[in-house]
This record gives sequence, C-alpha cells and structure tokens, in this order.
Amino acid sequence: MPDDDLRAAKERGWRELAPVDEALRRGEIDEDEWHRRVLAIVEPAYLSATTPRGGSGHGGDAARWEHARRVLLVAVDRDGTFLDVGCANGLLMESVEAWAAEDGRRVTACGVEISAPLADLARSRLPGHADRIWAANAALWEPPRRFTFVRTGPDYVPAGRLGGYLLHLLDACVEPGGRLVLGTYNEEHDADAVAEAVAAAGLRIAGRASREHRHPALRYKVLWIDAD
Ligand SMILES: C[S@@+](CC[C@H](N)C(=O)[O-])C[C@H]1O[C@@H](n2cnc3c(N)ncnc32)[C@H](O)[C@@H]1O
Repeated sequence: MPDDDLRAAKERGWRELAPVDEALRRGEIDEDEWHRRVLAIVEPAYLSATTPRGGSGHGGDAARWEHARRVLLVAVDRDGTFLDVGCANGLLMESVEAWAAEDGRRVTACGVEISAPLADLARSRLPGHADRIWAANAALWEPPRRFTFVRTGPDYVPAGRLGGYLLHLLDACVEPGGRLVLGTYNEEHDADAVAEAVAAAGLRIAGRASREHRHPALRYKVLWIDAD
C-alpha cells in the first residue's frame, strides 16, 4: 500500500498538523499556542460528526471501534476508577464501563478534555457522569482526586514532551498502586518509538498488549506503567 494509505490508517487525523509541530520546533509559537492550533482542527471536526464514534475521532463502525479500543481492558484489569484523558464526547468512558461490566468488573469512568465544548458534549451525552467530566489541559491539570486507571494518548502533547507529560500524570492523577495506560495508538509492527520515549523518561513499562489492524503494516498497541 502507498505511504498515504499508511498515514491515513494511523488515525492521527486529529493532529495531522506537521506545520504546527514545525512552528513550535522553530520557536515561533509556544506550547499553549500549539494546543490552540491543534484544537482548532480537532474541535469542529468532532463537534460536527454524525456518529458517536466520529465525535471521538474514530471513522469506523461500532465493530471496528470495539476492536480498536477494547484491547485497553487488558490493562484495566480490576475494579476501580478510570480517567479518560482526552475524553472527547465521552464514548470511550461509556464503552470501558460497559466492556468491564461484561468482563465482571465494576469500573467508574471519568473524563478530562482540553476542549470545553467537547467536555460539554460529553456531559450532555452522559448526564450521570457530568460531575466527573472536567475541561482542562491534562498536561497542566491538578485534578480534585486521583484515579485507579488513567488513560492517555501519545499525541496529546508536542513531540518530545511525552516523558514529562506522563511523569506529570503519574504524579498528579494516578492513585498509589494505580496504573497509567497509554493507548490505543497505531504503530507499525516493527516500530517501537512510543515505548522508547517512555523508557527514555525513566519509566518502567509494566505490560503491553496489541491487536491486529486492518492495515497489514500496523497494530493497535497499548502499554502501561504501574505507580508505586
Ligand atoms: C482521538 S480523541 C480520543 C477519544 C477517546 N478518548 C479515544 O481514546 O478514543 C483525542 C482527544 O483528546 C483531547 N486532547 C488532546 N490533548 C489533550 C490534553 N493535553 N488534555 C486534555 N485533552 C486533550 C482532544 O481534544 C481530543 O478530544
């Protein structure tokens, strides 16, 4: 398959923003502006989506959504609270609660979202969770409580900032004995750049899981780090 198909299959459309990354790298913008420019692309696309999955940045049907995301339950392996960092319209929150219940576990989902309109959308879709959905940039956020499981993606901060971001989430958001989960992200079978960035931050990867992707070069991957 041509490289363009591979890029599209990597589901990074929400931050398909090489010029923004480049402006930050050249020192023309600061990190706040990086987040603003990324959001200016993500927010209208998610808010105008016509399916629940589209409101979470996923272009597939319900079966593909489950295939791509349910692998997270390998990491979310016991009862507890689950914070979805970057919860968008809240679909992953409700999916994780439902899949955990099917597996015999009781998981209470919470969310934090950098886009205030998307956080509002999540609250209106999940009124029972409204007081557990916050609008904030997780890279700077000091939450009012801690969580058993905290999930995030590797692309929610500029390239090169992932290590510091994960250290902040471990310090501020994960409860003692809890788990920081990274994923799902799409990466080539033979690539390990995300895990290498985690290790470079001095963090020990406690576990990993992956699933096949419809693009033969890729896999859906998850890794996790356990808090002391
Ligand atoms: C691809 S969607 C993820 C939706 C869902 N959680 C999932 O995993 O399928 C990424 C979401 O993360 C949000 N986001 C990105 N950076 C963030 C940050 N630093 N803090 C909080 N939310 C962030 C984006 O606005 C977007 O709604």
